[in-house]
Amino acid sequence: MKLNSADAELLSQAVHALQHGDVIGLPTETVYGLAADAMNVVAVRKIFALKGRPVDHPLIVHIADSSQLSRWAIDIPEEAYVLAQHFWPGPLTMILRKQAMVPDEVTGGQDTVGVRCPAHPLALVLLQQFNGGVAAPSANRFGRISPTSAQHVRDEFGDAVPVVLDGGECEVGIESTIIDLSSKQPRLLRPGMISQDDIEAVIGPIGSNADRQSPRVSGSLAAHYAPRTPMQMLPRHELMLEYLRRKQEGMRCEVLCLDELPDGLNGLSLSNDHHAYAHGLYAAMRELDARHADLLLIEQIPQTSDWLAVNDRLGRALVGAGVEDLEST
Ligand code: TXA
Ligand code: MG
Repeated sequence: MKLNSADAELLSQAVHALQHGDVIGLPTETVYGLAADAMNVVAVRKIFALKGRPVDHPLIVHIADSSQLSRWAIDIPEEAYVLAQHFWPGPLTMILRKQAMVPDEVTGGQDTVGVRCPAHPLALVLLQQFNGGVAAPSANRFGRISPTSAQHVRDEFGDAVPVVLDGGECEVGIESTIIDLSSKQPRLLRPGMISQDDIEAVIGPIGSNADRQSPRVSGSLAAHYAPRTPMQMLPRHELMLEYLRRKQEGMRCEVLCLDELPDGLNGLSLSNDHHAYAHGLYAAMRELDARHADLLLIEQIPQTSDWLAVNDRLGRALVGAGVEDLEST
């Protein structure tokens, strides 16, 4: 990749920061990450402190390519290499049995490690130059909306994270698909833009764990990805009636619609293509949340398999919306 001089300068600052145990804002194709040297436990602890994340929630290790898998994992099944060949660099995280040297701070004390190779040119150059694994959760405070631009990361952490690599808007917009390959039967732990069908087309049938609650995947807690404004999801017609009814009660509502925003309603609209919707979802939720309305009305999205990952994120946002202290929920 050819870098302009400003990017090259910021990139060397970022590599330097990682080498010195600091935390940086990292662009990926899914969402921005809060990144540190995965082998430096002091640096990794800083991520948890900044996010306010419980220490038993494991982090994903980002690597430059699949040749580095064996630095982090053991007993790597053939499927892992086949999936890496098909989907890496890309929004797929694989859970594998960990190498003994992987710090407990990264894995939350488990004997497995999450690994992925992100499809973002700046992230890839950074990983190559750093020549190590970079632990990075999404760069938001625990339970809140994930960031999809460098500005979101700055809004969230300000001076506490001085180096944020600006890689523009994240293309995918929602977090990676997570597949657990650490036991005989592969299982899908978190849905994402790489669907179960996409994966099964490559390695055959897998099980799904995505809708079972498990502390192993923090994104699987019921309340997650949540705005501070209370939220409600309704089909379009009911949403319009609800908007008017609430308005008469003196409440200020904002809406998030599919396609076009109906006349007279305050809010935003997103495309009815699921890729474009996912790409814009978190930025729209952040913007609507910042308007400090009394209620966010979200238009019901399709319930088809294409929309599974977006439904998953919106469903969790609905549970956590309006809750001030998510850590106690
Ligand atoms: O797209 C993404 O995956 C983004 C970007 C920055 O790469 N990262 C991300 O990280 O979403 P985070 O920490 O917000 O979510 C990662 C999920 C967590 O829910 C965590 O519990 C799960 O991955 N995870 C990591 N290691 C795991 C392991 N060993 N076993 C089970 N789940 C694991
Ligand atoms: Mg997250």
